[in-house]
Amino acid sequence: MSIQWFPGHMNAARKKAAESMEKVDLVIEVLDARLPQASSNPMIESLRRERQRPCLKILNKSDLADPAATKAWLAYFSAQPKVSAVALSCRKPVEVAKLPALCLKLAPHRGTALKPLRLMIMGIPNVGKSTLMNALLKKRVAKVGDEPAVTKTQQRLLLGNNIVLIDTPGLMWPKIAHPSDGLMLAASHAIGVNAIIEEEVACFLADQLLMHYPQLLAKRYGQPVDALDGPGMIETIARARGYRLRGGGLDLEKAAHTLLQDYRSGALGRVSLETPESRAALLASYVVAPSDAIPQEAQEAE
Ligand code: G4P
Repeated sequence: MSIQWFPGHMNAARKKAAESMEKVDLVIEVLDARLPQASSNPMIESLRRERQRPCLKILNKSDLADPAATKAWLAYFSAQPKVSAVALSCRKPVEVAKLPALCLKLAPHRGTALKPLRLMIMGIPNVGKSTLMNALLKKRVAKVGDEPAVTKTQQRLLLGNNIVLIDTPGLMWPKIAHPSDGLMLAASHAIGVNAIIEEEVACFLADQLLMHYPQLLAKRYGQPVDALDGPGMIETIARARGYRLRGGGLDLEKAAHTLLQDYRSGALGRVSLETPESRAALLASYVVAPSDAIPQEAQEAE
């Protein structure tokens, strides 16, 4: 599977983020609640620890995630020092309205007229940073350039309650440490993929769903799914929906696309692709390849 990240982008993003972090009291890290660890960027964590900044982790899109998995992730993150975690949907203004109070709790020495609480929002693409910003500001704001190379004026946006949002490029490219992270990120649309890889991503997703949520697949496509594997599930969708190519064969590409769309939109139901337990099992099974044994900092400097 050829999903890559680019060291050049990572270096530029790290430098920018490090500069921005100097000027803030609190980091809001937006994660995708369906894959909180795969959608986090270890660089954000290492930077904020270096600078000793507290962090509010937002498990966004929790309307799409499995509530039991989300509960486990909240406990997992909240046990970390200087971290608070909250699950919500940035599309719901009442849920976003709870955030200022949580932010002030994490930086109690700030939040006065003289010392406003300065925060920045960070995260990988498509996790909902802009949606969050708009909900916090109760209006649409133009995006500050996400590309590290684009220089734009930094904005200070007042949120009320003596809180200032430093609007600075907070986008971090995902660091894909494990192949399954790449597949989870692609399934959730945090990274784009071409049509060929889309089928591979859909097969991975189908396998995950068959393992953990077979009843949702059976309900959505009206077919028994007991004896299926990932590719078999895609075929079943193509047959059930009558997706045919000109020659009469099954249109697997269309079926793959349908499955991905149904997962992304929530049409399948509430699904999570990882839990703290599955993450721990993944890490335990991971054999360090010689190239991975190079310290991360050194790899990024290459
Ligand atoms: P980014 O700045 O981090 O790149 O993400 P952005 O806010 O642009 O959000 C990416 C997509 O995720 C958007 O959908 C947005 O509406 C959706 N989204 C954000 N927060 C939530 C949430 O809490 N729940 C759900 N279900 N979706 C959320 P889009 O398809 O790009 O556009 P559209 O749906 O707004 O048309």
